[in-house]
Amino acid sequence: VTLDIPQPLREALRVSEQQHVLAFWDRLNATSRAELIAQLQSLDFEQLRSLFAKRNQASALPANDRIEPIEFIPLDSPQNSHAQKLGEEALRAGQVAALVVAGGQGSRLGFEHPKGMYPVGPVSRKSLFQIHAEKILALSRRYGKPLAFLLMTSPATHAETVQFFDTHKNFGLAAEQIHYFSQGTMPALDLTTGKLLLEEPGRLFLSPDGHGGTLTALASSGLLARLQAQGVRSVFYFQVDNPMVNIAEPLFLGHHLAARAEVSSKVVAKAHAGEKVGVLAKINGRCGIVEYSDLPASMASEVDATGRLRMWAGNPAIHIFDVAFLDKMTREPEYLAFHIAKKKVPCIDANGAKVEPTTENALKFERFIFDVLPAADRYTIVEALRSEEFAPLKNAEGADSPATVDRALTDQALRWLTLAKGSAKEGVKLEVSPLFALDAQEFLTKVAPNTTITENHYFGG
Ligand code: UD1
Repeated sequence: VTLDIPQPLREALRVSEQQHVLAFWDRLNATSRAELIAQLQSLDFEQLRSLFAKRNQASALPANDRIEPIEFIPLDSPQNSHAQKLGEEALRAGQVAALVVAGGQGSRLGFEHPKGMYPVGPVSRKSLFQIHAEKILALSRRYGKPLAFLLMTSPATHAETVQFFDTHKNFGLAAEQIHYFSQGTMPALDLTTGKLLLEEPGRLFLSPDGHGGTLTALASSGLLARLQAQGVRSVFYFQVDNPMVNIAEPLFLGHHLAARAEVSSKVVAKAHAGEKVGVLAKINGRCGIVEYSDLPASMASEVDATGRLRMWAGNPAIHIFDVAFLDKMTREPEYLAFHIAKKKVPCIDANGAKVEPTTENALKFERFIFDVLPAADRYTIVEALRSEEFAPLKNAEGADSPATVDRALTDQALRWLTLAKGSAKEGVKLEVSPLFALDAQEFLTKVAPNTTITENHYFGG
């Protein structure tokens, strides 16, 4: 069967001057033709035209004096014990779900698989996915309720992610506890002409539509409605790349609930002015995040009277969303505008030859979940210790690389061991399994005082 191009699609391609995508049509077999038609039918040509028209618009940041430091709940807040109780109650009542975004392609890390499969355990070589799953398992046991684990993939990571969990028997989680949902994609456009880029003669180049795609995907998969029906009120959001995240931490949850917040975010002090993290800020009087690529360098390096960075509140991408707020935001799409980035995208040219660009040749479009923050009338910002909560894996070498993650996890285990009056020989690697202890307090109940470690050690459970 020779599949033909539906007339309305043919017309849309003509009107939007994108007919070049059919240049290789005659060479395609039936399967490739069907796939190409499906890809093309998922596009909104009018949206692409308008995005291309906006390609040179500067970011929508207001004047510098409209961007201020944001108020926050400090580490030693007097409200902590009350918050802790509230958070524990919510977990016991099954009113919380954990959501990880794992749809990114991890191109900076140069790993050929979903980033969650990367082995980061300093001693165990456990993957990011396993560490997250074991935290969820430990929390489910501790609070006597299976914590729902929502795992957002993308077409680029979905099949391999599901397969990985299957192969490892879901790392001990019940199958009903895990809810996969896949985010959408966006095409890339040629930087100068606005033409769709092809990655193969019969295939468009598509990439995940940014973690802002979480909202659309939660709604369209029916998951949001199911959460609401099951009485889940808070969604704890985190990124797959951070093995130190304290998933569904009761203290954070409690501060969020006590404030009846629509959104809550953790902040960690930036390591230095140029660190590649967004900053939480008050923007035009509303809560928001200024992404590192948008923060003017002068503002990034400004210090206050005590010598601390004025915009110190780094974004570890750990949030809690009120479910009703998420639901409301799915109906207010104007908050989630696409961010336009100039990138190098390998593609094929008009003759079908492969092009490996050495300079930016394409526009890519992503939505950011944190663009919903300004819509929140009530929010809380909670200070966290970087050394206990944030060690992201981004790059193959240097900052935020396997070596720094390894170090951070070992250092944490060593701190906990020191609290237990134990010690370890210089240079040994240490690791605490989430199933052994989720936090320092639990660790203290499990490790004998004065424990001395002389070789690499895994506190397993
Ligand atoms: C991100 C934040 C930054 C924050 C930092 C903390 C953005 C735009 N910026 O930066 O403010 O300080 O993390 O580590 O997010 N992802 C998807 N689907 C996508 C794109 C990304 O699921 O379409 C996921 C990735 O799998 C990853 C996370 O989102 O878990 C972050 O993406 P990444 O590109 O690593 O963000 P950064 O630029 O490092």
